[in-house]
Formats: sequence, C-alpha cells, structure tokens
Amino acid sequence: MTTGSLLILAGDGIGPEVMVEVRKVIGWFGANRGLDFDISEDLVGGAAYDAHGTPLTDATMAHAQEVDAVLLGAVGGPKYDVLDFSVKPERGLLRLRKEMDLYANLRPAQCFDALADFSSLKKDVVAGLNIMIVRELTSGVYFGEPRGIIKEGNERVGINTQRYTESEIARVARSAFELARRRDNRVCSMEKANVMESGVLWRDVVQEVHDAEYADVELSHMYADAGAMQLTRWPKQFDVIVTDNLFGDLLSDLAAMLTGSLGMLPSASLGAPMANGRPKALYEPVHGSAPDIAGQGKANPIACVLSFAMALRYSFDKGDEAAMLEAAVEKVLADGVRTADLMQADGGSPVSTSEMGDAIVAALETLN
Ligand code: IPM
Ligand code: MG
Repeated sequence: MTTGSLLILAGDGIGPEVMVEVRKVIGWFGANRGLDFDISEDLVGGAAYDAHGTPLTDATMAHAQEVDAVLLGAVGGPKYDVLDFSVKPERGLLRLRKEMDLYANLRPAQCFDALADFSSLKKDVVAGLNIMIVRELTSGVYFGEPRGIIKEGNERVGINTQRYTESEIARVARSAFELARRRDNRVCSMEKANVMESGVLWRDVVQEVHDAEYADVELSHMYADAGAMQLTRWPKQFDVIVTDNLFGDLLSDLAAMLTGSLGMLPSASLGAPMANGRPKALYEPVHGSAPDIAGQGKANPIACVLSFAMALRYSFDKGDEAAMLEAAVEKVLADGVRTADLMQADGGSPVSTSEMGDAIVAALETLN
C-alpha cells in the first residue's frame, strides 16, 4: 500500500523551480518516515499550451480526477498575454478547480515570529497572526453566465454574472464551520448584502446552516469592504473568514501581505469526498508565477513546501508529518535563512531557492 497518489503540475515561471525543492522534501519523507507516494508529473498553463495548444489537456484533466491529490506550482506569464482568453494559462487552473468541483479554498495567513518585522503593518498588529480564509472557488462571478463582451449599439459591453445557489453557499459554509471547530471556533462571513442580492442570500444561508448545524460556533457577518478595512486595522480579531470567490481572491491577497511575503503562503482547494473517503484536492502556493524572477534561483519555495504540508494533513491523514514540516520551516526562518523576498534592506545575503530547500531538509533531519 502506498501512502497515496500525487499528480505534480509544476506549471510556469517559478513553478518548476520551487517544485524541485518540494521533491527534495518528499524524498526525505520517503527515506526517513516511510511515506511512499505514487507520483506522476504533467503540464499545466503556458507549459501545456506550448506543448499541446491548450492550458490543460483532457488527458491531464482525467488524470487529476483520479489521483488523491494534485500539487500545482503556478501558471501564467507575459508571453501568454496575447493569447485568446479561452486558452490563457489561467484557464487551465480554473478548469481544474471547476471540473474537480473544489469548492472550498483554504488560505491560511500565518505570521511566522521570525518575520513579524516584514509586514508593512506594525509588528504588534501582525505578530502571532493565524487566520484562515475559506474562499468559495467554483462559482460566483468567476463562472456565472451570461458573460462576455457584446456589442450594444455603437459600443461594447463587458458582462459577468454573480450567481450563487443555496447549496453552493451552504457547502462552503459547512467547510468553514468544520474548520472553526478545530481552531478558535469563530467564523466571520463576508459579502455585500447591502448592494447585492447574492450577498443577501449568502448571509441568510450561512446563518441558516449555522443555526441548524453549528450553533456552537460563534458567527458574525461583515460587509466585505469593511472586512478589508478590519483586516488591515486589527487582523487578529478574526479566526475563520468565509467569503465568495471574488471577495476571497481580493481578501486573501490582502491577508497574505499582512504576513510580510506572498512567498510564504500555501493553499488547499478541497471538494467532496471520493470513493476512498479522501476529498478531491488540489494544493498550490498563493503566489503566482513571478516571471520577473523565474529561472534565476531567487524564488522562495516555502509556500509550495507548506502546500505539500497541507496535502499531508488534508489528503493523506499525516498530521504529524505536516506539523513536522511546518516546524522545519519555522526553524529555518528562526535560524535566519532567507530568500531574497525575505531580506530587509540592510541585512545579510540571501540564499538561493535550492539552498532554502536544502535548509528545510536539514531542519527535518534535526527534528526527526
Ligand atoms: C488566485 C489567482 C487566480 C484567481 C488566477 C491565477 C486565475 O489570483 O488563485 O488567487 O483569480 O483565482
Ligand atoms: Mg488571487
């Protein structure tokens, strides 16, 4: 029996180079902790477009449906800006999310002690921060119909549709309440019920699910704009935030930056349980493909390494190993090992992507 199957889609930009470091970590867990993954690799995004003329082939899509977990690097790059919308690298990622029905996107924003100085906010505002944004990922304005650019008289009109069904809201609300029960037991739901009908329904359904099934969890509601303001004012007031696809996209970038660097933050996108009881799952760093530094050995692999830690926890039931990997990252940071994105203007010289990977593996050795 293997630990499980893992499809690696390294993608574009810094994706492949950070994934090399994750492979080192996976190798270490294989050699030292008996984890034995059935690993396959394939293309996504611009890399898939270059090879096949599509950002995700049907064969890759089908394979992603069969594995226990997908680990993705990043997609996109300026080279693909000229492409038609339907074959842009991002469409590959959106297709994976949609067809695997990965409706709950978990984006933790955690401030490592060693990096509290890094935030653009005051240290006491972010030190010890540990919040979880649960972003709905398969519906809303990202996918609603009608959409497109149409002609109306003499001018063009751009159209997108915000659309949520009750069941789509209820299932992501349940994910948030379940997570809250394993944390500080508090959920704040964010929408724009003051201007959007979909927001009115969102608020109603989250409240109904709460009252019927999760009355033990503390629930509050906030307009998403006020939520953005509160996130920068005093982010530690939050535990779990649940919100829709577009607000979640914005608020999770905001929350990520509270922690000092986008290069640190992992994410898990989870769907319904498969036949083996494991959820459909895709793990990816929150950062993008960072084309400006790609191929230079400057990228920070920590977000991708921590995404693998989330896979250990949520897909493979290896919570101890996940915690060990997170502790290794914390140790490396406490020891002052820094990639370029984590350098203060005045301090030291940065390590390369691969040196950071080696440091994490060395830290695992000491913790084993
Ligand atoms: C994210 C990204 C994606 C999104 C892009 C790459 C399509 O910004 O995962 O947050 O908008 O969802
Ligand atoms: Mg985003």
